[in-house]
Amino acid sequence: MPEAAPSFSPGLEGVVAAKSRLCQIDGTQGKLYYLGYAIEDLAEHSSFEEVCFLLWRERLPRARELEELRGQLQEYRQDCRDLFDFVGRFPHTARPMDMLRTCVSWLGCRDPHPGDASGEANFRRAVAVTAHFPTAVAAFHRFREKQSPVPPHARLSHAANFLYMLTGKQPSDLAARVMDVALILHADHEMNASTFASLVTASTMSDLYSALTTGVGTLKGPLHGGANEAVVQMLEKIGSVENVESYLSEAFAQKKKIMGFGHRVYKTYDPRARIFKRYADELSRADGDRRFFEINERIEELMQKRVGSHGIYPNVDFYSGIVYRSLGVASDLFTPIFSIARAAGWTAHVLESWQKNRIYRPASVYEGPGPRAYVPLDER
Ligand SMILES: CC(C)(COP(=O)(O)OP(=O)(O)OC[C@H]1O[C@@H](n2cnc3c(N)ncnc32)[C@H](O)[C@@H]1OP(=O)(O)O)[C@@H](O)C(=O)NCCC(=O)NCCS
Repeated sequence: MPEAAPSFSPGLEGVVAAKSRLCQIDGTQGKLYYLGYAIEDLAEHSSFEEVCFLLWRERLPRARELEELRGQLQEYRQDCRDLFDFVGRFPHTARPMDMLRTCVSWLGCRDPHPGDASGEANFRRAVAVTAHFPTAVAAFHRFREKQSPVPPHARLSHAANFLYMLTGKQPSDLAARVMDVALILHADHEMNASTFASLVTASTMSDLYSALTTGVGTLKGPLHGGANEAVVQMLEKIGSVENVESYLSEAFAQKKKIMGFGHRVYKTYDPRARIFKRYADELSRADGDRRFFEINERIEELMQKRVGSHGIYPNVDFYSGIVYRSLGVASDLFTPIFSIARAAGWTAHVLESWQKNRIYRPASVYEGPGPRAYVPLDER
């Protein structure tokens, strides 16, 4: 019997690449769970620090354990002097995701025990890297604005402290809560491209920093984490509600994708987009500037008529960009914020995979010429 040809799934659609206990998506019902907890409940009641504990330790923390993790994150955050020096040397024109990708790699170079591959050492690295991401992003932004970096605040949450390091001012309760929810919503998402890419690197028994460098580089693309920035660029281009219809008609005529719509897994409304939409509405009312929110709603209404029946709905990036914009965050920091949150998911998946590692080594279908004789240079 000839061996059956391996089946090929472009983009690995429908291919199961791992078993995991961390995150579950129901793309038909529009549901997302971390360790069985619904994203709506986590967004309502939890904090980013608690979600980190949940993903890393696979259960909700007790009060003392949560305090301990908060303390560890704060302690690592205080260790920022050489990170400031490193970040300050980047060209100010560098793209923040490129800076962050390089920074993660550098964090690996300054690890005092790079050869220690024990579970505890890797857990400590996961906490440290998660603590350092916001510092790197905020400090880089300050340097390029010709401002001094702001050292971390000892008593603020991970989310509030990020806004504080970015602006030098303590954020309002609403701003701090919105950023906390944004980090919760982005913390993990099953076998997305950047998590998969991180796992491929980790599966060679490389190291956590290499896996995260891969993750940041993969998230950057506009088909993945870069879509939130692209959405705001699209809104700026559209300019007003009246222009939405003609913009969409032109985009469809040119077969362009509408950023912030569509998803490999969700064939209905992304539950995270619903939560972001609520905050986008609330923040735009508080600002008295409803323009972008109204453009977004109009795009959503028209897209529903055009492609809703094909399972193309708003994804997490459709409303997140205008939420960050309302918080005064520069648009090229939107994807870095996604990375700040996803550091928790990437590290959790890598730590989980190392409990039962097997190197990723898929196959490809060969489409080139068959075996043939080599032709010497002077005979070609
Ligand atoms: C997320 C995404 C990459 C998923 O890609 P995918 O699973 O490979 O799906 P495809 O790109 O093959 O799309 C399937 C069909 O839906 C259409 N489609 C998908 N997303 C679309 C969008 N945003 N706007 C218009 N049409 C879209 C495609 O044109 C394609 O139509 P066709 O079958 O007639 O050719 C894709 O939906 C996309 O590029 N969205 C825009 C970028 C974005 O918002 N990314 C953030 C994801 S969280």
